[in-house]
Amino acid sequence: MDSSFQAILDSAEKAFSNAPDFAALENAKAAFLGKTGQVTDLLKGMAQLSPEDKKTQGQAVNLLKSAVEEALNLRREALADAAMQAKLSVQAIDISKAGRKRGGGGLHPAMRTLERIETIFHSAGFDLADGPEIETDFYNFTALNTPENHPARSMHDTFYVEGGHLLRTHTSPMQVRYMQTHASPIRVIAPGRVYRVDSDATHSPMFHQVEGLWIDEGISFADLKAVFIDFLKQFFETDDLIIRFRPSFFPFTEPSAEIDMAFTTGPNKGKWLEIAGSGQVHPNVLRHVGLDPEKYTGFAFGVGPDRLTMLRYGIHDLRLFYENDMRFLQQFS
Ligand code: PHE
Repeated sequence: MDSSFQAILDSAEKAFSNAPDFAALENAKAAFLGKTGQVTDLLKGMAQLSPEDKKTQGQAVNLLKSAVEEALNLRREALADAAMQAKLSVQAIDISKAGRKRGGGGLHPAMRTLERIETIFHSAGFDLADGPEIETDFYNFTALNTPENHPARSMHDTFYVEGGHLLRTHTSPMQVRYMQTHASPIRVIAPGRVYRVDSDATHSPMFHQVEGLWIDEGISFADLKAVFIDFLKQFFETDDLIIRFRPSFFPFTEPSAEIDMAFTTGPNKGKWLEIAGSGQVHPNVLRHVGLDPEKYTGFAFGVGPDRLTMLRYGIHDLRLFYENDMRFLQQFS
């Protein structure tokens, strides 16, 4: 190669290898192969040459051009390689490291408790029923012997929704729906979510209840006690329970009792916690669904499964169930 051509090639190689990145390389390329680049100028100058000179000179310029292009491509590849290496070193995977195990999922403690309750009552011959969370005033109150202006309505801080509907404040409306659609004898539980304007360590605006209902001839308060205590013994897997039936009032039961249980573990050990409302179904409720209270009697209860979970695991604050903090929930999986 002619020494002036060699000098151009040398300076091109130097410019390319000094280019630190693709943008700089494109700039360096322009100085040689661009519109006014040194190699391009040489090619343009060919027009003035005689045919013989064109031939020899043309070959030489073309050689120079391919040499410059080759140098350019070499640098491009080197830059691409370097970029790939940089990326690989950032994303490097140490295949000798021990793998991370996939965490096993688990049922939420509230759901585990509901399933336990369903299993226990199922084995005692109770059916399972369901009902709407958005209820009418009729099913939530009136049919449960709680007419308008009845003071007991203010016991429940109700969430009202559009169209005169409300979020059910208890699972008891399902008693009425079930008795309307099923003939006696009836033995059923109906679990579900209920809503009240209430929030502290033992109250959450949304919580769960499981309604229980047994209607037949000759069912008494003694049956309620037997069934409920038997259920608790199975649920807590012990006969050593501290329970009391405390006289209370519900418009839809008479007599009525609230059922309390004492914590045996946790920071609340020894303290009472109300776990259920219960009682003999009020004759007016039976009449409302067309049952003769002279013939049929029965009991109902509404138990709080979240409260049972608190007692079973010694949890002091109900709201922990609904914060979905994995550190709390993982203890139950
Ligand atoms: N529904 C009542 C409540 O939520 C509980 C209850 C159910 C009481 C069934 C008696 C019978 O407060």
